[in-house]
Amino acid sequence: MIQLYWKNATAAVVEDPDSGITPLDIDQIEPDIRRALADVRAQKPGFTDLPIRSEYRDDVMRLVELYRPTTTDLVILGIGGSALGNIALQTALNPICYNLRTDKARKGPRLFVLDNVDPASVKTTLNFLSRRLKTTLFNVISKSGRTAETAGQFMIVRELLRKKLGSEFASRIVATTDSSNGVLREIADTEGYHTLAIPNNVGGRFSVLSPVGLFSAAMCGIDIDELLAGAAAMRKRIDTTDWLDNPACTLAAIKYIMFARKGKPIHVMMPYSNRLAGMADWYRQLWAESLGKAETRDGQKVAVGPTPVRAIGATDQHSQIQLYREGPNDKLVVFVEVVKHPGDVRIPDVLADQPGLSYLRKVKLSKLLAAEKQATEYALAVSGRPTVTIRMPNITPFSIGEFIYLYEFTTALTAELLNINAYDQKAVELGKEATFAIMGREGYDEMAQQMKTFRRMDRRYLV
Ligand code: PA5
Repeated sequence: MIQLYWKNATAAVVEDPDSGITPLDIDQIEPDIRRALADVRAQKPGFTDLPIRSEYRDDVMRLVELYRPTTTDLVILGIGGSALGNIALQTALNPICYNLRTDKARKGPRLFVLDNVDPASVKTTLNFLSRRLKTTLFNVISKSGRTAETAGQFMIVRELLRKKLGSEFASRIVATTDSSNGVLREIADTEGYHTLAIPNNVGGRFSVLSPVGLFSAAMCGIDIDELLAGAAAMRKRIDTTDWLDNPACTLAAIKYIMFARKGKPIHVMMPYSNRLAGMADWYRQLWAESLGKAETRDGQKVAVGPTPVRAIGATDQHSQIQLYREGPNDKLVVFVEVVKHPGDVRIPDVLADQPGLSYLRKVKLSKLLAAEKQATEYALAVSGRPTVTIRMPNITPFSIGEFIYLYEFTTALTAELLNINAYDQKAVELGKEATFAIMGREGYDEMAQQMKTFRRMDRRYLV
């Protein structure tokens, strides 16, 4: 079971009531967090049902059974919430060398996630796949079906498949999109692709436990039943109204207090595990797009939102910690600690003639990494910097399911505390529309006109 340890976020530890949580803060937040919990329960956002909706899991497994035996390579075309969850699951639950293993040693196809229109990486990936297109499956994921990056990639891939496979091309595409709306849905239905539906009340960044994330995970041998079971177990724990026993309420309350009352607008997630690097990237999007808002629910201008940052322990101790300890005291660091890693290595009993290295002899790397985490926690505490630890017993589909649901619900609660809507992303939409205007999409002439002066380069500023 995932646990939260927050003593090092208290004023008693950081010895500063302006930076750490006091008993008075706890008393004061109580009615707000209770109200936030009641609000989220009443709203029933779509993501909260995903752990217990078996129909999505069944749809996914039907396609996995169909495609897994004939697929050597799976390529995701998607961006943002249509890609980050897939990367996070694969990074956490399959080994780093997964794609390099032989077909027999792998539990499924190689996985490539093209979450950018970076021309070089698209070209390199397609070149690699060109000789095995018959056994490559492209999963194009787009809820709106109109995102320029995904649409551009899809057009390239569709044409490549059409040229190489002729009338069979449609059988190598699975479209994951809205069940009835959008261009991608229209094309998929017309051309006869297999499809998976994204529930219409689940936004991109909350969709990893829907077919968006489940299909690639199951194709690559990840036990999605365990993943959903972990999320369902966390859902049950979060059902408790006693908020200090409720990990999502406690985490949301701490994060809100740090942001709103302790001058900590930067929220770092620092897993001590490379396997969790993708989860930290997933968190960055969830936190940033859900909580960065211009207005409250009742229309007041606020420009609010904690800035999420990713750091990896121990690597970033040698890159970021100098700033975190001695720079502005404006951060809450959330460590993610793994008790039992998916693999371990013991340092050999060598170099006995070097007393300076004897502390490392015969020690497991997991022990060294755990010591590094504790040392950093201590170093930050003595500098008056608050931290929280999320303790994961191991990295399994179950614990990752727990972690995902914990963070999704924490995000929903934090939005309620900030009195903002976690589920829209108007600022992202403007960028998408401006891209349409620049690229000359029909219907965007007015916007293109408005942007004309802005886009003209002023050479006085070109150095
Ligand atoms: O969370 C979100 O809503 C966004 O990040 C989207 O996932 C992202 O913009 C991609 O959108 P779509 O799935 O519609 O292509």
